[in-house]
Amino acid sequence: MVRILVLNGPNLNMLGVREPGVYGTVTLADIEAMLREQAAEAGVELDFCQSNHEGVLIDRIHAAYGNTDGLLLNPGALTHYSYALRDALSSVAIPAVEVHLSNIHKREAFRHVSVTAAVAVGQIAGFGAASYSLGLKALLDHLEAGKGA
Ligand code: DQA
Repeated sequence: MVRILVLNGPNLNMLGVREPGVYGTVTLADIEAMLREQAAEAGVELDFCQSNHEGVLIDRIHAAYGNTDGLLLNPGALTHYSYALRDALSSVAIPAVEVHLSNIHKREAFRHVSVTAAVAVGQIAGFGAASYSLGLKALLDHLEAGKGA
């Protein structure tokens, strides 16, 4: 069975409370439930992890090596500066799709750069919680087509 790991970075546990004007009122638990339903329909296995700590996310990516087919990833602010996270992604070479609730390209200048997108298959940003479901679909299509990282 195809195994997907969904990774969420710093402050995404605060969705629902955090800047609702930017991120909406959907919670991370709502997003997890939506993705689990989508994964069940697609017949794939889903693991879910959120951490506010860069090293925990890196350790989780390393632990995925050899047992995970794809990564769906919202690195939060780490997107913009974490070369360590980027190197972890390229170390394991698991196909990854990067997602963002907000359109990072029309926000503050520091959010326009993603250091992780260059090692991802692609990026989806700006569709709120739907960015995750679109990202999962894109990732599954990519894997089905037999393409790599
Ligand atoms: C975010 C965008 C990032 O710039 C921000 O730091 C986040 C959330 C998003 O999903 O829109 O934490 O990744």
